[in-house]
Amino acid sequence: MSLSIVIMAAGKGTRMKSSRPKVLHKLAGRPMLAHVIGTTASLQADQQVVVTGHGAELVESSMTAAFAQAPLRFVRQEPQLGTGHAVQQAVPVLPEGGTTLILNGDTPLIEASTAQALVDACAGEHLALLTITLADATGYGRIVRDASGEQVLAIVEHKDASPAQRDIREVYTGMMAAPTARLKQWLARLDNRNAQGEYYLTDVVAMAQADGVKVVAAQPKDEVEVLGVNSPAQLAELERRHQRAQANRLMEQGVRLADPARFDLRGSLQCGADVDIDVNCVFEGKVTLADGVQIGANCVIRNATIGAGTVIHPFTHIDGDTQGATVGAGALIGPFARLRPGAELGDEVHIGNFVEVKNSTLAKGAKANHLAYLGDATVGERVNYGAGSITANYDGANKHRTVIGNDVHVGSNCVLIAPIQLGDGATIGGGSTIAKDAPAGQLTVARAKQVSLAGWNRPQKAKR
Ligand code: UD1
Ligand code: MG
Repeated sequence: MSLSIVIMAAGKGTRMKSSRPKVLHKLAGRPMLAHVIGTTASLQADQQVVVTGHGAELVESSMTAAFAQAPLRFVRQEPQLGTGHAVQQAVPVLPEGGTTLILNGDTPLIEASTAQALVDACAGEHLALLTITLADATGYGRIVRDASGEQVLAIVEHKDASPAQRDIREVYTGMMAAPTARLKQWLARLDNRNAQGEYYLTDVVAMAQADGVKVVAAQPKDEVEVLGVNSPAQLAELERRHQRAQANRLMEQGVRLADPARFDLRGSLQCGADVDIDVNCVFEGKVTLADGVQIGANCVIRNATIGAGTVIHPFTHIDGDTQGATVGAGALIGPFARLRPGAELGDEVHIGNFVEVKNSTLAKGAKANHLAYLGDATVGERVNYGAGSITANYDGANKHRTVIGNDVHVGSNCVLIAPIQLGDGATIGGGSTIAKDAPAGQLTVARAKQVSLAGWNRPQKAKR
């Protein structure tokens, strides 16, 4: 049976006090709306329809970019006259039959299994509401049931509710699944005669009742799935709960987090056995840590793969961006190291403080321990790259490669002007500016000869 998903994302989000559309504010590094679209993609719906309004162009372009493969459709709601009015805008693109699942773009942590349970409860014929019982139901639409408690009769918005209805703690989460043909009929009959002068989607419940359509309710596994974001404080609160849940999942797999409250994952983190992660680390994009990896405090690691037993010391920044960055097994990186896109470090490589590596390959056992730059370089095995040495890889117009053979020793404070090659076993004298290839096995020095002048006198201050 056909399934359509309608995601409401037109609201202004006044309480965010931001020029950015609310649904584009990020949770775990990803726009809230992208969470909802991404999660529900697994339901294999025939289409996902996003209702946009406030900041529509920006919302549409960023979601189109994020979900190039998905069959996303956008419908505009201008002006925004309420949730019922929002779904009315989707009616022309909904098929005649099947089921429509309605979700909110500002409720990012809904799980696919809960959304599926709602669709299943609808079963193509009932009106299924996702409800939850809250300690404090203020602001929410209340679920009004019959005397037996079995039948849902209506949803009454907080502002329209009587004192007795306000005592009800079962609330509507904003998500429902309905038979599409019926939904279209109900939407056509909505009016805005209520406290807010809006077209309430929730009024379809009473209509379903009147039409003899059974109204059923399903519940999420966890409250966090249905928490919506209206303010920066709520966004931060949800972020912490989400991070805590991710941290718990990793710890259940055996990952040792020094403090799960000081851990941030904005993407996916794959960990082997016996991984230790110290406090205040941020993982972004796709990160893989092999067995026995240790991550020191205050590291930021994005789109990178770290080999077994490697130690990343504190304050290291690894950013693979779109190219990725890889570190082999048994390597020592940092403290204060910076690995940029295209850094490919072999096993047992050592990268020390204030060393930057970009688009470079370092073979097994190569070391750059202090204050150095390696850009667009191919570095052989066991190379020792001295403190303060750099590759001059950019001539102002183009980038050029530096190729360093095995067992090369580059002294301190050298400038290697690319394109250039240093042969196997070459030694480069400290302080050299190397502009021509250096032969294998020889000492190459390119600096002014040292002279000492006997009988030289320091200038004296002129006497008056
Ligand atoms: C809605 C429900 C309420 C429920 C609550 C749960 C209605 C009438 N009420 O209230 O029963 O308890 O959600 O959070 O549905 N939106 C549009 N266009 C509009 C208005 C809203 O796209 O014209 C979008 C918003 O961007 C948001 C969602 O719909 O993503 C919900 O809108 P919101 O104004 O937050 O509804 P609530 O008043 O919270
Ligand atoms: Mg709301």
